Amino acid sequence: MKNYVSVTEATFELKLSVDTIRRWEKKGLIKAERDKNNHRLFDKDELQKAYDKYISGGDSHPYQIIKSNKLHNVKCIELFAGAGGLALGLKNSGIKSEILVEIDKDAASTLKHNCPEWNVVCDDARNVDYTGIKADVVSGGFPCQAFSYAGSKLGFEDARGTLFFELLRCVKEVRPKIVLGENVRGLLRHENGRTLEVMVSLLEEQGYRVHYKVARAQYLDVPQKRERLIIWGIRKDLDYDFYFPKERDYTISIREALRNTPDSAGQKYPARKAEIMHLIPPGGYWRDLPLELQKEYMRASFYMGGGKTGMARRLAWDEPSLTLTCAPAQKQTERCHPEENRPLNVREYARIQTFPDTWEFCGKMTSQYKQIGNAVPVNLGYYLGMCILNMMGLENTPHEVEKYKPVTKNYDDELPLFAQAI
Ligand SMILES: C[S@@+](CC[C@H](N)C(=O)[O-])C[C@H]1O[C@@H](n2cnc3c(N)ncnc32)[C@H](O)[C@@H]1O
Repeated sequence: MKNYVSVTEATFELKLSVDTIRRWEKKGLIKAERDKNNHRLFDKDELQKAYDKYISGGDSHPYQIIKSNKLHNVKCIELFAGAGGLALGLKNSGIKSEILVEIDKDAASTLKHNCPEWNVVCDDARNVDYTGIKADVVSGGFPCQAFSYAGSKLGFEDARGTLFFELLRCVKEVRPKIVLGENVRGLLRHENGRTLEVMVSLLEEQGYRVHYKVARAQYLDVPQKRERLIIWGIRKDLDYDFYFPKERDYTISIREALRNTPDSAGQKYPARKAEIMHLIPPGGYWRDLPLELQKEYMRASFYMGGGKTGMARRLAWDEPSLTLTCAPAQKQTERCHPEENRPLNVREYARIQTFPDTWEFCGKMTSQYKQIGNAVPVNLGYYLGMCILNMMGLENTPHEVEKYKPVTKNYDDELPLFAQAI
């Protein structure tokens, strides 16, 4: 006789996430039967086979912080450096940090504490003068702001007042070979794409060729489904090719990432929230609660549209984490530990952003979470560093980077081989 389980039972027994089960079903790898209430039931043996094949067998890849043992004479100035995710990644690729500019005292202390040799300027980027400073690369994850559109075409001075202007001013003063701008994917659609269009034309006006692309961290040795928009500028007198990180054909699960994480401080749930979160299975969210509790927890959101899949969300062991934000227990973006009844703690946050366990964060716990949540994952930073070195002809690593190809179709259609396979 067959042994059927519901989706919730499967998530508890096999520690699979609802997303994984849905994806397998969609790909025809497992098949659901329906009970008399039209709820889906799965054959437990079939689920176990899929688990053995796609999760324990090959799906899960070891967690590692990637580092090159070469050191190149390539110098970078970084604006808006935060706690150093990008800076450490670039360092791991062999690039040197010349100056790091960061306004937040805790983040600047983190940079100095972990790399005393770095020249950290703890100040508003608007106050920094770059005249006389030489660097090959200027980078910055500038906070995204709208421009005020006075005329049909904006020039350098029209961008004044935005933090992108500060990146541009540094570029104008230093004239680096390569510019690296990093931002959230949402910049693509900000003001219907106009903000990005203006940024590209301002960089072009400064004498740079520009290309941009979304990098998906989960396919770049980061156990997290984080996406960042990468904007490259290459000075027009240089005939460098553009490179972007090459996606790997595997992902890294939280199980791998959190193995033997050292103890650390972490936020706790208030008593009632703890009772509610206790009922959510790994990979589950508010819909896994009994109806009355759904209403209690969600309040007005219960009656609004949209999946709200980030609410009361417990992470799944067998998948990369959802994108980390500045705090692990925000109502819309809950990041509960897969098994324990608490939000991810500080060191788990750091692991998921691929910071080494030795990288210490300064300031109060809330500030530490914020610094980590704001960072570029260190491994993504490494791949960006390898892109720079390949552009400059100092490295040749075609397994890690690929030449820019214009995207002709919707980016979302471009599933990597791994996702197509399951
Ligand atoms: C998205 S975070 C950068 C994260 C960083 N790239 C990393 O990988 O860790 C943006 C940073 O810009 C800093 N920032 C915001 N306004 C600034 C300003 N006017 N001058 C300098 N830094 C600023 C913030 O404190 C924050 O740490």
